[in-house]
Amino acid sequence: MTTFLKPPDIRRATVDDLAEVLRLERSVPEAPHWGESVYRDILLQEPVSTLQRALFVAVDHGQLAGFAVATVVVDQAELESIAVDPVQRRLGVGRALSEAVMLWAREAGAREILLEVRSANAGARALYGRLGFQETGLRRGYYFDPSDDAVLMSVSLSAAADL
Ligand SMILES: CC(C)(COP(=O)(O)OP(=O)(O)OC[C@H]1O[C@@H](n2cnc3c(N)ncnc32)[C@H](O)[C@@H]1OP(=O)(O)O)[C@@H](O)C(=O)NCCC(=O)NCCS
Repeated sequence: MTTFLKPPDIRRATVDDLAEVLRLERSVPEAPHWGESVYRDILLQEPVSTLQRALFVAVDHGQLAGFAVATVVVDQAELESIAVDPVQRRLGVGRALSEAVMLWAREAGAREILLEVRSANAGARALYGRLGFQETGLRRGYYFDPSDDAVLMSVSLSAAADL
């Protein structure tokens, strides 16, 4: 198993990361599956004051270990997608990516960050719980193939002082 001697290197993605991000996304069934143009738009968009979107990558020894996508609309952020390479899990990559997203979102003006997660996704729910997210609601039957409920979660970014 890979062991990080230091936290993974987290940075904003560039167009050069796209092929690896897509490869990882397609190998992770729980991640939302988007076309390449969606990622390309995130990287190439001009930020406007009311909407900002970011793609972060975690890199270990030059290899993509994970990625995350988030959006800030005015004062609310959403963690839209996060995925870690299955062989790199439980090493702190997901946590480091999430914390980078939370810092970025706070600096972009968000006061809270929201997300939705399959109720059956115990690993992701555990990660979010460790990061201080609280469950705020349930959307019954929100997911299909396989069908599942969506658990809504949020955390106040002003309270996350130790980021
Ligand atoms: C969810 C996911 C991003 C977590 O990434 P990760 O790099 O393994 O997470 P971390 O190592 O940073 O975990 C931090 C903490 O979260 C909790 N956690 C993470 N995965 C867990 C799991 N499978 N089971 C229980 N707790 C888990 C633990 O408390 C963990 O700390 P510990 O390892 O010291 O116990 C990863 O499992 C993944 O890519 N899953 C598939 C995609 C997905 O489900 N995305 C979310 C869709 S909403």
